[in-house]
Amino acid sequence: LVQGAMSKLVPLAPDSWVPGGVPDPLIRQQHGLIGTSVSRLDGPLKVRGAAPFAAEFPLENMVYAALAYATIPRGRIATIDTAAAEAAPGVVVVMTHLNAPRMNPPAVFGSSPTAAGPADLPIMQDDHVHWNGQPIAVVLAETQEQADHAKSLIVATYAAEPSTTSLAAAKAEGPKQGLFMGQPLLNEIGDADAMLAAAPHKVDHVYRTPRHNHNAIEPHAATIAWVGDELIVHDATQLVTAEAQTIADVFDLKAAQVRVTSPFVGGGFGGKCLWDHQILGAAAAKLAGRPVRIALSCEGVYRVVGGRTLTEQRVAIGADADGRFKALVHTGIAAMTPHNNMPEPFILGTRGGYAADSFKLSVETVKMNMLANTFMRAPGEAVGTFALESAIDELAVELDMDPIALRIRNEPDKDPTSGLPFSSRHIVEAWRSGAERFGWSERSAEPGARREGEWLIGMGCATGTYPYYRMPGAAARITLRRDGHALVEIAAHEMGMGTSTTTAMVAADRLGLPLDRVSVGYGDSIIPGAILAGGSQQTAAIGAAVIAAHHALVAELLKPAGNDSPLAGLSPDEVGSEDGGLAKLDDPSRRESYVSILERAQRESVVVSEEASQPLELMHWSMHSHSALFCEVRVNAITGETRVSRFLGAFDCGRILNPKTARSQFRGGIVMGLGMALMEETQFDERNGRIMNPSLAEYHVPVHLDVPEIDVIWTDIADPHTPMGAHGVGEIGITGVAAAVANAIYNATGKRVRDLPITLDKVL
Ligand code: MOS
Repeated sequence: LVQGAMSKLVPLAPDSWVPGGVPDPLIRQQHGLIGTSVSRLDGPLKVRGAAPFAAEFPLENMVYAALAYATIPRGRIATIDTAAAEAAPGVVVVMTHLNAPRMNPPAVFGSSPTAAGPADLPIMQDDHVHWNGQPIAVVLAETQEQADHAKSLIVATYAAEPSTTSLAAAKAEGPKQGLFMGQPLLNEIGDADAMLAAAPHKVDHVYRTPRHNHNAIEPHAATIAWVGDELIVHDATQLVTAEAQTIADVFDLKAAQVRVTSPFVGGGFGGKCLWDHQILGAAAAKLAGRPVRIALSCEGVYRVVGGRTLTEQRVAIGADADGRFKALVHTGIAAMTPHNNMPEPFILGTRGGYAADSFKLSVETVKMNMLANTFMRAPGEAVGTFALESAIDELAVELDMDPIALRIRNEPDKDPTSGLPFSSRHIVEAWRSGAERFGWSERSAEPGARREGEWLIGMGCATGTYPYYRMPGAAARITLRRDGHALVEIAAHEMGMGTSTTTAMVAADRLGLPLDRVSVGYGDSIIPGAILAGGSQQTAAIGAAVIAAHHALVAELLKPAGNDSPLAGLSPDEVGSEDGGLAKLDDPSRRESYVSILERAQRESVVVSEEASQPLELMHWSMHSHSALFCEVRVNAITGETRVSRFLGAFDCGRILNPKTARSQFRGGIVMGLGMALMEETQFDERNGRIMNPSLAEYHVPVHLDVPEIDVIWTDIADPHTPMGAHGVGEIGITGVAAAVANAIYNATGKRVRDLPITLDKVL
């Protein structure tokens, strides 16, 4: 979506380009709120249970939904018997393809800026089954328990059709070039095959990553009501605006007829988007004429909400005797469905990671009959760096070189595949400060050299990069009141990462108001603009929107400044916000408070709404967040059990706006990376395409005992080309973690595992 939107931008002529647009004085400000640790403003609400989540909106006359799921991967529903369910206690209606309202298929995410469908399949419109687990019936009942019981009474029979549910069969059908947002996932620079063959040192291996499912602490849910011909969806989502538009299209409504709210989201990592359940809930609510709450069970999340797909990646690196990369090859396949467009673009991080004389990077896709796979924290980079950063570690062994020194030796001076200059890249500094803090010099290069009793101890490292994005379409509305209070509204999302707090800080600093004079409204599609909580771009998008709205506010406030105002005759460019009012930039003695301006104008409030500038910085610079990751593991020589004993992330992500929430973001990403390294795996039955472990009892994620103290440091060097000097701090956290763990396990044991997760059977 980002790249699709970018392709429509018209670049400025080079000489008219001001790097970073309007220089942002907040980047250098030392004594404001930005850069201070502020606790989450939504924290007290959540601790008290006073923050309403999607399944907690109480609507009068509401019914509860349960879904029945198909049990074949592809074919037709031959018969579906709902009589017993309809006769069960409390049942209001049973909806199947036979009685569902007519609906348009949702436009698939990425096909336009407002499309939010996971796939472009029609939803419950015919008897076709496209994946094992597809909803085939919705039961509405007076209680959740009655709905759950009734759905267990539904009996379906099927006419199966040929399906592809094994990777081998999918590969046999022939991989196709992967497209990410319309662009081929392919880079060829020089003759990488020949340079690899001629290189004196090389590694060449295949790395495998499994499917992963989403396990947010809040399972997906929505509370849905039709009010006349308007639809209200209280949802847990990362994209209120695009979701409202897509739902409107599905039901042939105008965008203004659908309102999606999402004030709080209990974790969203790419999976809290539009899936079938919101549309089915809205359709069933229409059929029943009553509001519907649809809360997916844990199993329901696995059947309805796609996760990360599997990959098989070849990484081959050829190097000279000094370790300089002559050839960098990163190719392979990702599995997809025939109806979505998310090819798990694992080469994205390799495109800008290292200098090399030649490149061959490619993602091909194979098609399987399964639930549409989707975004999951650092899609592409999270699994791509496992392969790339493992291979670099293997090359360091081959060269008998320190793996950090090898990485620094291949540090590029500009983006090696796009040719663009880097806007801000201080990864070497992250390596140096991280190595010192972690005690990297204590590491023995020889595997298995350190042992305490049964435990083999090793250290490993890896680099992570994740692109800086800022998507067009963001806007902010500021309402400044006569009592000196400002309301800042953005169509953005608070998923637990601290966005609302950071937004309040940014707005307060910009408006020159104390934090408690600023409130933030968000998570509602009726707010102007569209801000996706994804691609780690939300904070930059918000920042740019607040900058634009603030400029508009200054202009609006100057209008009533008549002759008796100290600001009389000044233009918006000459004036800034400071200490509860406006002041002339080069003569702060000419100032007037907001309260005085509004009193003079006899207005209760001033409201401005403004779109953010176009994200032109992305056309001129190669922009990324970076990390240097350090891991210490203890591997039991008898059982093969791996315990991560220490972890350090040294990050280079531009200016850190709120150290407290940023630290949590980094740690959360690293925890997820530990799960990816050691535990997480969706078990997919290749005979019938059924997910076998749709439960946290059998799909393992780290618990507290699996997570050591995680140390986090950062460079805090502002990028002069982004709003507020910041880069994203969300997805960079997980990126590279699995490789750091795998490399530490190699250092501890001498065993190289190229197949995630690294369970004990693979280590022994
Ligand atoms: Mo993230 S996978 O962009 O929510």
